[in-house]
Amino acid sequence: MKKEQVVNCQFSVWYPIFKKHTIKSLILPLPQNVIDYLLDDGTLVVSGSDHNTQQTHTNSNNSDEEEDVQWSDDEDTATVTAPEFPEFTSKVLEAVNSLGGRVFPKLNWSAPRDANWIALNSSLQCQSLSDIFLLFKSSDFITHDLTQPFLQCSDHDSPDPPINYELVLRKWSELIPGGEFRCFVKENKLIGISQRDYTQYYPHISKQEQQICLSIQEFFSHNIQYNYLDEDFVLDVYRDSWGKVWLIDLNPFGEVTDALLFTWEELSSGNGLSTNQPPGDVAQQQEGVAFRYTTSEVTVQPSPCLSFRIPRDFVDLSTGEDAYKLIDFLKLKKSQQEDSEEEEEQEEEAPQ
Ligand SMILES: Nc1ncnc2c1ncn2[C@@H]1O[C@H](COP(=O)(O)OP(=O)(O)O)[C@@H](O)[C@H]1O
Ligand SMILES: [Mg+2]
Repeated sequence: MKKEQVVNCQFSVWYPIFKKHTIKSLILPLPQNVIDYLLDDGTLVVSGSDHNTQQTHTNSNNSDEEEDVQWSDDEDTATVTAPEFPEFTSKVLEAVNSLGGRVFPKLNWSAPRDANWIALNSSLQCQSLSDIFLLFKSSDFITHDLTQPFLQCSDHDSPDPPINYELVLRKWSELIPGGEFRCFVKENKLIGISQRDYTQYYPHISKQEQQICLSIQEFFSHNIQYNYLDEDFVLDVYRDSWGKVWLIDLNPFGEVTDALLFTWEELSSGNGLSTNQPPGDVAQQQEGVAFRYTTSEVTVQPSPCLSFRIPRDFVDLSTGEDAYKLIDFLKLKKSQQEDSEEEEEQEEEAPQ
């Protein structure tokens, strides 16, 4: 994978080409002070009930704005105001409203999929800039986009192309995970299709295998093939309940993109790929497209983003969402401590 391929997979590069076939979206340039704020580790955004304000608890005072402590009316709570971006905030709100009030946020390449557990609705659905900040600041995927987008490129000796960072807002759409597929395109040929949410078994996929495979192939050959800037790329598509196929995302053809039910070794070897069907489904293999999906409950695996999560209790504690939980937690700690002290005393008293 070359740096140029990564550049070409930016949302603002492919969106104008395939606008008709994807979810309506708006692109806003990210001001430098917002980028700095997203990369500042010292600030944790707490999404408040008021959607248009951001409040933060900060443990490092490395910027003048953050030192500006404001005491709230409630004597027991001190809040520190976050840096404010009034102009950007109003642009974002305007964009969100024009997309129907609920959006799916991304940067140039990635969505904060590893951070949805932190949002109060456990989803990537956002209504305000503070919702977006909370997800972005908690996401390693977003940090990757901002700090090392060319990490896995083979041409590491060439200078990094300049990147203009952008906030992508996509109209919120209820996508059913069983309708999502990833398509691997090599030399402008569709070589493999994988169920995207491969951790689950979806009976409808095996039932409609032929139709799914055909509709995706048609979508590719009519709308995508030869229209993109590269000949190797990975396409994410959605097949809705009417059987219509939509483009969801474009990704580089290489290790940075999850090969799902394939391996990168297989995909780049140039040898024909096999489907996961029992041998005999020759028709599909002659077409040159291998279609893989999870075929039974047995193969169901934990969700790949699970390792990014911490227990819900810690989230509530750290965001101060549930004060009673904090009190319970401290009581529990105290009684544990007392128990272990008692045990120690008893052990000391116990006869040998
Ligand atoms: N507009 C949207 N509304 C709701 N969910 C979406 C939307 N776009 C994408 N998603 C969901 O988020 C997932 C990740 O989106 P994607 O754009 O591919 O981000 P990434 O490249 O970071 O994986 C998709 O597989 C889909 O389930
Ligand atoms: Mg993607």
